[in-house]
Amino acid sequence: MLKMQYGHFDDLHREYVITNPQTPFPWINYLGNEDFFGLISNTAGGYDFYKDAKFRRITRYRYNSVPMDNGGRYFYIKDGDVVWNPGWKPCKTQLDSYECRHGLNYTRITGEKDGVRTSVLHFVPLGVKAEIQRLTITNLSSKVKNLKLFSYTEWCLWNAATDGENFQRNLSTGEVEIEQHADFTALYHKTEYKERRDHYAYYAVNCPVQGYDTDRESFIGLYNDFSEPQAVLDGAPRNSLAHGWSPIASHYLEMTLQAGETRELIFVLGYEENAQEDKFAPFNGEITSLGERDHHIINKARAHEVIRRFATVEAVDSAFAELSALWDELLSKYQVQSADERLNRMVNIWNQYQCMVTFCMSRSASFFESGIGRGMGFRDSNQDLVGFVHQIPSRARQRIIDIASTQFPDGGCYHQYQPLTKRGNNDIGGGFNDDPMWLIFGATAYVRETGDFSILDEMVPWDNEPGSDVTLMEHLRISFDHVINNVGPHGLPLIGRADWNDCLNLNCFSMDPNESFQTTGNRTEGSKAESLMIAGLFVYCGRQYVELCRTKGMAQEAERATAHINAMCQAVEKHGWDGEWYLRAYDFDGNKIGSKDNEEGKIFIESQGWCAMARIGEAEQMPEKALDSAVNWLDSEHGMVLNYPAYTTYHLEMGEQSTYPAGYKENGGIFCHNNPWVIIAQTIAGRGNQAWDLYRKIAPAWIDDQDLHKVEPYVYCQMVAGKEAAKPGEGKNSWLTGTAAWNWLAITQHILGIRPTYEGLLIDPCIPADLTEYTVIRKWRDAQYVITIKNPNGKQRAEQPTMVPYSAGKHEITITL
Ligand code: GLC
Ligand code: GLC
Repeated sequence: MLKMQYGHFDDLHREYVITNPQTPFPWINYLGNEDFFGLISNTAGGYDFYKDAKFRRITRYRYNSVPMDNGGRYFYIKDGDVVWNPGWKPCKTQLDSYECRHGLNYTRITGEKDGVRTSVLHFVPLGVKAEIQRLTITNLSSKVKNLKLFSYTEWCLWNAATDGENFQRNLSTGEVEIEQHADFTALYHKTEYKERRDHYAYYAVNCPVQGYDTDRESFIGLYNDFSEPQAVLDGAPRNSLAHGWSPIASHYLEMTLQAGETRELIFVLGYEENAQEDKFAPFNGEITSLGERDHHIINKARAHEVIRRFATVEAVDSAFAELSALWDELLSKYQVQSADERLNRMVNIWNQYQCMVTFCMSRSASFFESGIGRGMGFRDSNQDLVGFVHQIPSRARQRIIDIASTQFPDGGCYHQYQPLTKRGNNDIGGGFNDDPMWLIFGATAYVRETGDFSILDEMVPWDNEPGSDVTLMEHLRISFDHVINNVGPHGLPLIGRADWNDCLNLNCFSMDPNESFQTTGNRTEGSKAESLMIAGLFVYCGRQYVELCRTKGMAQEAERATAHINAMCQAVEKHGWDGEWYLRAYDFDGNKIGSKDNEEGKIFIESQGWCAMARIGEAEQMPEKALDSAVNWLDSEHGMVLNYPAYTTYHLEMGEQSTYPAGYKENGGIFCHNNPWVIIAQTIAGRGNQAWDLYRKIAPAWIDDQDLHKVEPYVYCQMVAGKEAAKPGEGKNSWLTGTAAWNWLAITQHILGIRPTYEGLLIDPCIPADLTEYTVIRKWRDAQYVITIKNPNGKQRAEQPTMVPYSAGKHEITITL
């Protein structure tokens, strides 16, 4: 059967090209990589926010709407009686041609109808708090065209959470201003500006307009939907002034295009902040502010500057070229050249791009994360930055300090913090006992990449408390000790609320459907709930801590830590081995989880991955046996499931894990994030073929069945439905997943095998036997290494790894396995 294809990769332009707007799910992209961000679907749906998707939502978006993905930045073109959108939605008028190109932090959507082509390029220029929309409209026909163009965006009342619930207030607070100049027209959103807010948003176009709207009901009509705004159908804007209800911004432009003529328009959708004392402009009559009786006119100097800066196509082009140049530079840090086009595509473009996005977003805003649930996760961000640190080390450095600043003096952590305030947030829980070790994971990766040991001397507070500062190195020590201060009856780490698996809530015993497993009270008194995942994490990252101490000349501390690591290894060998694989945990009462003796949930992936990466029980070949068991029990056509068999009943003593139907999420789903742990463990065991096989199963470049996979074919998703689900292979929760950083580590450092260390670059490939040759160009610190690996004899690994000491300059190295 011929599989439906909705698009294809264009590697030369570093784009994914969507050729059918009716993708099986909205396929989105991210605009911006600094402070101003946008989510944009292939039909121009989505929204913008500044820094924090919860507290500074700029445009409104309705999750869970019907139909899917309604609302965004829309352009309506009225050509006679026909109304259409270049991105097909919302009118869904049949287009003569459609194409959406998702590139690196930009999206270009082009539609053609009845001889008119409209193309809109969306991007956020570097250092600018605005989304630029460059609209190009061409009359391809041989007749004169009289067209009417309406732009449309709907403002969010800043706090995306209250925007969706507090209607008794919201429907009376909306305020706007309208400003018409000879060279531009700007529509401003200033709800709450006259009181406590010192920020506003605007939507401008670089020319005078023939009309506008700022009130949603006036523009759309109370009983119409986005596909039939009454003002558009009538071809007549209402020049409405929003006061309360739902403020929007819509420009109306009339244009006559001769045959072959093209017109370019530049729209700027931006956000600015003013100092408190500088918020208001004198009302000097120069501006047309229809919204004001009381003269609380926004001081718009900053917006004017941006609007005027992007008044010409040349200025927009040059900002766009800067963005491309940034990506040339970022991607050039690690490039592979091989005969495998899909491998090159993953490594050289899409995996790196997704690492930037997860670094910026953590798990906050996607089409599955509403932007109001979570900010920056302690464990998530520490993992994300490891996939990003080679791109912009200085930002990874700041992130580490921000994260560590939210830690508590005993090493425990807020599970997340809000990016706007950088303060810890208890709303989604705390007391996850894996959290502290991830700081060691993130910080040591940073130092190995950069050689910047000075970060360890940075003074970092506890819980942002002024005056409580200790060095970052001390934070790492306390993180390490948090595990050893919290061990259970078998000498294994106590799990706390949960470990990496947020749903393994062994102390929660919840029977109340109205409470969240992530925040509800925990019975920790008398708990025997221990985690083998944290044990493996502790040994693996603990050794990274020891190595760091040794490198810094802290021999005593290294020895002290080693003793604890050895003790943990013994505890795992003695109490964590089930015969053919590592157990997963002990529950509150000390019963085994993830054991052959259990009827369901006999084996879990996390402890196999971590304990095998840490090589616990090496002398007894525990890692190899555990990896074999993991593959036998957990693997499937689409990747490895998290546990098997999945739970079919609710286990009070296990919490959320057993709430999911079999085959989804943490209950038997292919939770892609943990597959790379097994992949890396396979490489450490020298099994290149197996590692490669598992790598390809979840890497998007190898996903051919787009209908089944459903979500974007260019990025990893958090979960693919497992073998016990209704539709195995169906993807969900795309984009924001630790899989991006972890599969980046797996492929670049462990399979292709180029690993930064304190001493130098370690070259230690573990590849499939049929990969005969490849070259990696690695820019590392101030040096460039061109490393060619030749594998004429079908090996999977060299006898010995090669250490290339760091030195500035260009180096060429060839290694034959
Ligand atoms: C989600 C969370 C992550 C957690 C994982 C497994 O992806 O963001 O922190 O480790 O689920 O539960
Ligand atoms: C749920 C999800 C898990 C996520 C957590 C975050 O438990 O299953 O993946 O990490 O919520 O709150």
